[in-house]
Amino acid sequence: MAVLYKADPVRGAEWQRLLAAKAPDLPCFVWPEAGDPRAIRYLAVWTPPDRMLERFPNAEIVISVGAGVDQFDLSAIPAHIPVVRMLEPGIAEGMVEYVTLAVLALHRDLPAYLEDQRAERWSAIRLRPAASRRIGVLGLGQLGEACCRRLATLGFTVAGWSRSPKAIPGITCHAGAAALPGFLAATDILVCLLPLTAETKGFLHAGLFAQLAPGAGLVNAGRGPHLVQEDLLAALESGQISAAFLDVTDPEPLPSGHPFWHHPRILMTPHIASQTRPETAVDFVLEVIAAHKAGRPLPGLVDRSRGY
Ligand code: NAP
Ligand code: GLV
Repeated sequence: MAVLYKADPVRGAEWQRLLAAKAPDLPCFVWPEAGDPRAIRYLAVWTPPDRMLERFPNAEIVISVGAGVDQFDLSAIPAHIPVVRMLEPGIAEGMVEYVTLAVLALHRDLPAYLEDQRAERWSAIRLRPAASRRIGVLGLGQLGEACCRRLATLGFTVAGWSRSPKAIPGITCHAGAAALPGFLAATDILVCLLPLTAETKGFLHAGLFAQLAPGAGLVNAGRGPHLVQEDLLAALESGQISAAFLDVTDPEPLPSGHPFWHHPRILMTPHIASQTRPETAVDFVLEVIAAHKAGRPLPGLVDRSRGY
C-alpha cells in the first residue's frame, strides 16, 4: 500500500520525509517514480496522470493537493474512485492573509497612492471608516467563511453569498441567484472565492460589475477564468470599478504585453494567495485514508455533479 505524489517535486520530497516519519508503513513515491504501480492506492496530485487506472490498477482515492479541482478532468476518473480536495488549515490561513492584504489595500486607496508616487504627486484622499466599507465575498466555503470572519474583526461590514443558505455570526449571508442583485448593490469591495465550474466561469463580467456600488474594488483569488478580462478593463475605464487585485489570471502567466501587466489600477500576484502546507497536508491525507479504511464519510469529498 503506497501513496503517489504528483505535483511540485520539491514539496514532494517534503511529503516523502513527513510521511516516512508519521506513517512509516506507508511509502510515498514522487512522480515519475512510482515503485510497484500495483501498490499505489492513494494519489495526491495537482492533476492525475493519464491512463490513471491502467497505470495504477489498485488506486482507491484521488486527492487534490489544492483546494480547487477545476484542473481535474473528473470524467476521466472512474465513478467508483472518490475524489477529495485538500482541506488542510494552512490554505485558509494563507487565503485570509491575502484577502486581508488586498481588502486593506483597496480600502486605503493603495493603487491610487502608487500611481501618485510614480507621478511625484502628494495628495491625500479622505479616510473612510472601515465600518462604512461593505465587503462582499462570493463563496462561503472553507476559504470564504474564514475571510469573512477575519474581515469582520477589522471592523468592516461583511456579507457573503453562496449557493446554499448559511448562518455565520456577524456576517450577512445571502444565498442563491435571487439574492445576488441585493448582495451586489450593497458591496463596495467584492472578493471572489468561488470554485471554477460551468456555472461560475465568466461570473465576474460587465453585467455583474454594473450592479456593484459605483467605484467598487475587486479581488479575484478564485480562478482566472472567473473573470472576463475585457469587461474589467472597460469597468476600470468607466470608473465603475476603481481598482482590482488579481491573484489568478487566464492563462497563467499572462502573455507579454497583456494590458493587465502595466495597468495602474490592477495589482497582480502570481497565484500565491495561499499554498498547501506539506506538514498539515500530510495529516489531512492520513485522516482521509483512515476515514476510508473505517468506512466513514471522506472529508473534502468532491460532489462530481456540482463540480466542487
Ligand atoms: P468550497 O469550500 O467548496 O466553497 C465554495 C463556495 O462557493 C461554497 O460556499 C459554495 O456554495 C459556493 N458556490 C459554488 N458554486 C456556486 C454557485 N454557482 N453559486 C453560488 N455559490 C456557489 O471552496 P474553497 O475551499 O473555499 O475554495 C474556493 C476556491 O478558491 C477554490 O475552488 C479555488 O478555485 C480557489 N483557491 C484559490 C487559491 C489561490 O491561491 N488563489 C488557493 C486555494 C483555493 P455552497 O456552500 O452552498 O456549496
Ligand atoms: C490553489 O489554487 C488551490 O486550489 O489550492
